[in-house]
Parts: sequence; C-alpha cells; structure tokens
Amino acid sequence: MKPLISWHNSFSVNNDIIDSQHKKLIDIINHFYEVFKRKGNIEEIEQILAELKDYTKYHFSAEESIMEKAGYPDLEEHKRSHNQLVEKIVDIEKKFLDRKITVNFEMMTFLRLWLTNHILEEDKLYINFI
Ligand SMILES: [Fe+2]
Ligand SMILES: [Fe+2]
Repeated sequence: MKPLISWHNSFSVNNDIIDSQHKKLIDIINHFYEVFKRKGNIEEIEQILAELKDYTKYHFSAEESIMEKAGYPDLEEHKRSHNQLVEKIVDIEKKFLDRKITVNFEMMTFLRLWLTNHILEEDKLYINFI
C-alpha cells in the first residue's frame, strides 16, 4: 500500500535529530492511514491518536529546546504555532473518544497537511539558525 506521506529530502531541516523525529511523526500518521484503510478497530485508533499526541508533544518540546539553545529569534511565534497544532490533535482525540467524529479520508488529508505544511513552511525557517 502506498503510504500517505513519503519522506522526501525537501522535508530535511539539516539536523539529524529533528529529521528523525519528523520521520517518526510521518510513520505514526502512515500507520494511522493503514489502520483507517483496513477499517481497524476503535481501540487501535484510540491508541494511535494517543501516540500521535504524545510524540507530537515530545517532538515539539525537543525542537523548542534546540531553537532556544541556538537563540532562534522567532521562538515565541513558533511555540504558539506548536500549541495550536497540539490543540488540533487534542481536539480530534477528544471528539473521537466522545464518539462525535469517525475517522475518514478528510481526517487523513488534514493530518498529512497538519504535519507537512508545518515542516515545510515553519520548521524550515530555523534551518540557518540551528
Ligand atoms: Fe516546529
Ligand atoms: Fe518539527
């Protein structure tokens, strides 16, 4: 099966730690997509949403500390963006746990863009600082 997101060199921020964390996020979303395609059960989906939320928080705080150590000037703006991205996942998880939404293709597209737009448009901005 073709993955939802394929790693491409254009995603690289020239930092091995951050690149490997971005690859892990891609893997989690691709796993979610695979479970969605084969109509996996509710427990499986709940587990992936929890993993996506937890790993996202872990990655964002690691990325923020790298930016902070490097004295990245737009750290506060980047943190606000991270907080909004986490809120979106928390919101999806909560609605799913409350059985207010189901997993569908729109959710997959949302997650694909949620991650790739942030890497390509915002993470890329710190490349020359870290
Ligand atoms: Fe970021
Ligand atoms: Fe990132």
